[in-house]
Amino acid sequence: MSDFILRTMTSADIDAVSEIERNVYQIDPWSKEQFASEFVGVPETRFYIIAEKEGRTIGYGGLFAPSPGVEADVQTVTVVVEMQGKGIGRALLERLIEEASRRACPAVLLEVRVGNESAIHLYESFGFVEIARRLNYYGSNLHALVMRKSMSIDQAIK
Ligand SMILES: CC(C)(COP(=O)(O)OP(=O)(O)OC[C@H]1O[C@@H](n2cnc3c(N)ncnc32)[C@H](O)[C@@H]1OP(=O)(O)O)[C@@H](O)C(=O)NCCC(=O)NCCS
Repeated sequence: MSDFILRTMTSADIDAVSEIERNVYQIDPWSKEQFASEFVGVPETRFYIIAEKEGRTIGYGGLFAPSPGVEADVQTVTVVVEMQGKGIGRALLERLIEEASRRACPAVLLEVRVGNESAIHLYESFGFVEIARRLNYYGSNLHALVMRKSMSIDQAIK
């Protein structure tokens, strides 16, 4: 599916994004205030994008890259429920990794809930590997995998 576009997220997108956030995440969805506080770091330490189809927000992704040459974190990759499995998450993640490369980040890290197989498969397909587990990170008996993707020297100096 390629009938969607990726564009930079702006503060005008926060309402739409937080509505999706509440629908997709049963546990600890980010509030509007949390998205707004992420925006304070754009563009210096944050990079946020939207996937849009016919003017409708259908997904979003965010990266935290504290400074050039330092490891980055994927803050979120999220697709509206009815559009999942159509290549949108892959496109969002690819763009975040490109940005990490542009910022010369030597690696990208992320956390994902143990059992979130679709997300884990997506991350593995980009070369992320498990480096740690955080027990009860998302709540009682909800553990997190910490995954890391090393950027090749070629990627990191692009
Ligand atoms: C995880 C998520 C971002 C993936 O985005 P998506 O648009 O649904 O995924 P894509 O269609 O781009 O698929 C990318 C890969 O994910 C994996 N995947 C997607 N759906 C899957 C499913 N139902 N079962 C297993 N793997 C799946 C596959 O590896 C797929 O690669 P392929 O197309 O080569 O088979 C999306 O499903 C989502 O928003 N889930 C809820 C929120 C979430 O868990 N976010 C991640 C938090 S860490």
